[in-house]
Amino acid sequence: MKKIAIIGAGRVGESTAQILAKEELCRELVLLDIHDGLPQGVALDIQESASLLRFDTRVTGDTNPAAMADADIIIVTAGIPRKPGMSRSDVLETNLSIIDKIVSDALQYAPNAMMIMVTNPVDVLTWYAWQKSGWPRQRVFGQSGALDTARMTSFIAMETGYSVKDISALVLGGHGDAMVPLPRFTDIAGIPISHFLSEEKIQKINQRTRQGGGEILALKQHSSAYDSPAAAVAEMVDAISHNRRRILPCVSVLEGEYGQHDIAMGVPSVLDESGLSDIIELELTTDELAEFQASAKMVSADIATLR
Ligand code: 2OP
Repeated sequence: MKKIAIIGAGRVGESTAQILAKEELCRELVLLDIHDGLPQGVALDIQESASLLRFDTRVTGDTNPAAMADADIIIVTAGIPRKPGMSRSDVLETNLSIIDKIVSDALQYAPNAMMIMVTNPVDVLTWYAWQKSGWPRQRVFGQSGALDTARMTSFIAMETGYSVKDISALVLGGHGDAMVPLPRFTDIAGIPISHFLSEEKIQKINQRTRQGGGEILALKQHSSAYDSPAAAVAEMVDAISHNRRRILPCVSVLEGEYGQHDIAMGVPSVLDESGLSDIIELELTTDELAEFQASAKMVSADIATLR
């Protein structure tokens, strides 16, 4: 991976840049923001940690969208975050106009890039960016399942005391309170989670996962989460830049999978150097499917307001 552009030098953009630079996931990293001085300052600060953290990634900041020229990946974090008490959908209108401009810039300056959406409401905005760009779905997808799954994994580790390294969890659906944690596809070292935890404890973990973003926002009051969202984006970039063919839940445009059309939401997806190269269709139980459909309905309702 030669060049990555991060749009938005706020908390998520900055944290993502730190990880990508340190992990040397690209040679050139550009941070873009509309507030002059901010992306330059953030980039310089990260660049000055290079000799300490021992990386050769070149990090720069700019306000001119032309600086994204020929980026291989564009990571979109720009937008207003929600405030305590707001849902992710409540920031749709404002963030839509921001995404609109970013997609236009991407079409002009980096027409062959792939785009990873992070800005909320991420499912709706991924669908919008895909539609507006006219790019194939392989090149426009979003981050949420990697984060939601990481949260579920952490809660299981906290509850059981076992290593996160042995825990494999799965969360599908929209990135909202109706997301669908799937304990049936969750294990510790290959042993089903039901061996370790009672149904009641599993349900509590599911619920905490659904409200994971809200829990942090309620605690911090003035900021949404940014460390774990950034780490989740970095995991996706790592899969792409190393052509790993990892299966990660990503916000993917669905073209009939899971019975859904003309929508983007979280499903297990294959990430490799071509981007989102495949979608894994699971056979869900009646209850799981009903939850997935309820989540899809909420995403569709937001998408319908954009038509
Ligand atoms: C979260 O879940 C901000 O949506 C983000 O923390």
